[in-house]
Amino acid sequence: MDNTEKNIHFHVETDDDNIVWLHFDKADAGTNVLNVDVFEQLDEHLQQIAARNPRGLVILSDKANGFIAGADITAFTKVKNSDQALAFLRLGQDVFNRLEALPFPTVALIHGFCLGGGTELSLACRYRVTRDDPGTRMGLPEVKLGIHPGWGGSARMVPLLGGLKAMDLILSGRSIDGRTGKRMGLVDLVVPERHLRAAARKQVLESPAPHQPAWSDRLSNNALLRPLLARVFSQQVGKRAPRKHYPSPYAMIDIWRKHATDKQGMLDAEAQSLAQLITGATAQNLVRVFFLQEQLKSLGKDKGYQPKYVHVIGAGTMGGDIAAWCAFRGFHVSLQDQSPERIAPALKRAHGLFTRKLKRPIKINEAMDRLMPDHRGIGVERADVVIEAIFEDAEVKRSLYKDIEPRMKADALLATNTSSIPLEELYSALSRPERLVGLHFFNPVAMMQLVEVVKGESTSAEAAAQAMTFTRQIDRLPLPVSSTPGFLVNRILMPYLMEAVLLEAEGVPAAVIDKAATDFGMPMGPVQLADTVGLDICLHVARILAGHFNATVPERLEKLVADGHLGRKSGHGFYEYKKGKPVKQKAATGNWNLEEITNRLIFRLLNESVCCVREHVVDSSDLLDAGMIFGTGFAPFRGGPMHHIDAVGAAAINQQLQSLKSLRGERFTPDNGWNTLMQSSGGSSA
Ligand code: NAI
Repeated sequence: MDNTEKNIHFHVETDDDNIVWLHFDKADAGTNVLNVDVFEQLDEHLQQIAARNPRGLVILSDKANGFIAGADITAFTKVKNSDQALAFLRLGQDVFNRLEALPFPTVALIHGFCLGGGTELSLACRYRVTRDDPGTRMGLPEVKLGIHPGWGGSARMVPLLGGLKAMDLILSGRSIDGRTGKRMGLVDLVVPERHLRAAARKQVLESPAPHQPAWSDRLSNNALLRPLLARVFSQQVGKRAPRKHYPSPYAMIDIWRKHATDKQGMLDAEAQSLAQLITGATAQNLVRVFFLQEQLKSLGKDKGYQPKYVHVIGAGTMGGDIAAWCAFRGFHVSLQDQSPERIAPALKRAHGLFTRKLKRPIKINEAMDRLMPDHRGIGVERADVVIEAIFEDAEVKRSLYKDIEPRMKADALLATNTSSIPLEELYSALSRPERLVGLHFFNPVAMMQLVEVVKGESTSAEAAAQAMTFTRQIDRLPLPVSSTPGFLVNRILMPYLMEAVLLEAEGVPAAVIDKAATDFGMPMGPVQLADTVGLDICLHVARILAGHFNATVPERLEKLVADGHLGRKSGHGFYEYKKGKPVKQKAATGNWNLEEITNRLIFRLLNESVCCVREHVVDSSDLLDAGMIFGTGFAPFRGGPMHHIDAVGAAAINQQLQSLKSLRGERFTPDNGWNTLMQSSGGSSA
């Protein structure tokens, strides 16, 4: 090795075969991302390397966590207008065009994540060589941020893979590992870590013909087929992302339909379209959601806390799935219930989860080995974290704690998954109440990212911090909440669900109510959500919250549960269920005032949100927004309930609440917190 030059973000090495190795190691950052500074330096390096005319160029990352994570997303929030965005996009395109035009073989040597701009850079190389492991992921996830590729990602991927495969990756935003990439034609070689450099060198020295898509793949870019395929793509996207809320995938489909076989046209269209999207409300709010997620992640960073053994008590709906999830994430888990028969269904579900997620039999077996059925509760003694998920009954929980606490390790964490019981009602059973925290998971555990971490008055700061770290270790997002009835998410959700029940009891068809909510941007309507959660569970939580907040539980809900109509699980709730799917009558929405229905639902949710901020159930409006987005899927493109209030105007919503109060009753009385909001936004009290 000779000729070592140093630069701020890059470092160049030339080997004995005259191959240049360009190491990317972004200064002052744990992760490689692309910004103006990086592009300018990369451009300088490419010019110098071109002048030396080496045998080939290999671009690699010196960061252990991956190749390149994409664009520096903080830059998005600073873009002031479309012209500024366009200049940034053109800069990236010019640099990647220069890379693509180099007359010698170029290789992107990829380990870990290679996303967005990282994949776009790799596409400008002649070859892509990746490490063979599930942690190496390539993809163009831009649609998830309300944008689409803009540095040639689509212009280069479409001819390389064909329209169908490329558009599937771009429109879904999903990432793939090296093996899948190889099958699709995105990746040339997939090799174990120890062969990475040798494989890149071989690719340069042998310089094989670059990948060409099969005839059948090329066919999907045919001009005659594109209008038809574009309609199919739009229909597929429409099922999960309505055009009016999420414009970016539709813009991408349009660009592809018009320019698929014209690279320069596609590059121009990518940049023009993205420059508009990036400054729009959807992209700005989705970027906000990205940062909220980062904020939650940063809450669980206590590197000193390293629990190994988890013991879960209660192998029902929640405990069984929590135990499986912890084992999937690498913990040794013992699972206790009253008898082996009660644990068996949870083990079966765990096997299903491992099969779906891990695929390889050896990995599935390893995960099953980490999950031990333990109906005698022997695991309590060695556990670092004990998670209780038994019946929602304070007396039953207290009696369990009395039994297990003397057998627990002195420094073990005791976490309850209670969905509504304040910790203050549970401390009395414990001699060390400071070790009790709430870890409130959401159903289904494997899908819902949020975990509310509940700190009661006796919980120590250390235990709460450890609970947050543990939450991150199992790859969930911790939200610190105070120990008040219903905590944050259920408390805010309940008035919204109860309003839906009242609307239905007034005669509004369930499908109309659900449509009003999904049109607003909720992932599922409130009626279907109640049926999915289980009407008995809804009733139970509603009664507890009604008791605390002086509300009434709708009679309709009481009656459905009394009649055994429990929702999807009993085949009948507000909807009838066939094969687990609700049978929705075609509702004539035209007969109903959808705007009023939406307002009744959403304003109750917003009113409770304002109350929770005022009562400090969470520390900030941002944390409330994060909780509702990751705990309920609250319309992400709106940036969260509090952000939505900001966008619409607190005074305007307060006024509508006042009107609803006189029309529909006291439950719409605006919370006192609106006054503070209106003062801080300069609005006047209506
Ligand atoms: P479940 O009824 O499905 O399961 C409870 C399990 O605990 C049963 O298998 C039962 O045999 C077992 N159990 C009861 N007493 C026990 C004891 N002394 N020792 C060992 N095992 C015992 O209940 P689910 O729905 O899983 O709820 C559990 C907890 O999670 C409750 O506190 C609930 O409020 C909370 N929760 C429930 C959610 C849901 O959607 N179901 C969501 C979030 C929290």
